[in-house]
Amino acid sequence: MLKIKGGQEISWEVQISWSKNASLPIIAASLLVGKVVLNNVPRIGDVFTFLEIIKSLNIQVEFVWNTLKIDSTKMNLDNPNDELIKKIRVGILLIPSILNKFGEVNIPYPGWCNIGKRPIDEHIKWFKAIWYEDLSKWENVHLKWKTKSWNIELNAGFAVTATENLIIANILREWKTTINLAAIEPHVINLIDFFNKAWAHISISYNHKIEIIWVRDLSENIEFDIIHDYIESGTFVIFGALTSKNYLDINNARINDLSCFLEKCREAWVKMEDLWNDKLRVYRSENLKAVKFQTNIFPGFPTDLQSPFAILLTQADGISKIQEIMFEWRLNYLVEIEKMKWHPAMLNPHEALIFGKTKLNASTVSSWDLRAWVAMIIAWLIAAWDTHITNVEYIKRWYEDIIGKMKNLGVIIEDVETLK
Ligand code: EPZ
Repeated sequence: MLKIKGGQEISWEVQISWSKNASLPIIAASLLVGKVVLNNVPRIGDVFTFLEIIKSLNIQVEFVWNTLKIDSTKMNLDNPNDELIKKIRVGILLIPSILNKFGEVNIPYPGWCNIGKRPIDEHIKWFKAIWYEDLSKWENVHLKWKTKSWNIELNAGFAVTATENLIIANILREWKTTINLAAIEPHVINLIDFFNKAWAHISISYNHKIEIIWVRDLSENIEFDIIHDYIESGTFVIFGALTSKNYLDINNARINDLSCFLEKCREAWVKMEDLWNDKLRVYRSENLKAVKFQTNIFPGFPTDLQSPFAILLTQADGISKIQEIMFEWRLNYLVEIEKMKWHPAMLNPHEALIFGKTKLNASTVSSWDLRAWVAMIIAWLIAAWDTHITNVEYIKRWYEDIIGKMKNLGVIIEDVETLK
């Protein structure tokens, strides 16, 4: 358990880690390229779990610092670790790689974190469209190659992992695949860059259309760099605005990926300066103004930054409004945060009003939505007095050394055995 001292200020500079949501699909895609070296892979819980899963498929893995070597030349399905596959959502990204290599996959229904029902109907629908037979029973995803298919048009409904799965599934499938309404999040683009570096032919156009011209083989080995994490960067913008002594410099801030989010921050009167070389300076911003915002697909306002932005709006004058359109349970943390003597109005599962400016009182709260978890750390830093944080391991699933970064920024965080 950790104890965070309330009313603290942070300073001066933070280095953003690399993207969880880019690393995971690219690790899955690496199973189609014999030997791969991935640079800038974050050392986080979900990556370690995913590596344990692929090791159970007889894949050689070497992970030193942030460099990951993967050798899938001896991959087999003798002994997949079903228990781990059930634990994390990204188990779903294994399906197309296994289908490509073995023509059949039979794995447990992947796990998820409770921000919504997170169905995979879109994924299954399109695997069937490219002629895989769906033999799934309720607790398993079981697909089997049925027959050859030709030029095909698919529609990903802007779903992120569904788009990633359709890219991986069609990279070696004869002939041309067109994915309409594709997700174009930065991590999807990073996956496309990975495959194109491995001799694939994938093009993407502004209207969310991805075109894949099949190739007989991908290169046998490549080295590739993962991008920095724009969601972590956006989270530190909120840290900087609410808790910096004077300002916080964010290195590798992925400013271009955050345009809609930063526009909303400016609308709320967060003071920022775009320095050179993708460095963003965020000033302590006292007189914040209430705004309304709606989460959306990229390049709209990221749902993964909804909860940190909500904490910012607790310190803004006036009534703000959140519309969370991506996930039906992603406002649930608001109920938990009421313990800090702050009372948002939940209008329905997708809409809430935030009454600012509010004094947050510390209280031991926890959230099962990892992004809301980080938002709560910001709330505790501005809260009047100390807070105890339980199940810290949980947050390390998605954030590389977040506690270490907080300490480097001057935050007093103590490891305490039990509540005193
Ligand atoms: C990805 O999840 C991210 N996860 C999520 O980040 C992110 O919140 C989400 O995209 C939206 O940007 C990873 O990349 C590993 P979706 P994903 O499929 O792909 C519905 C984080 O915080 N849908 O785009 O699972 C679905 O229910 C995580 O890092 C179907 O109905 O999200 C949701 O309402 C959390 N049927 C909407 O689409 C399907 O078959 C968007 O979900 C698939 C999705």
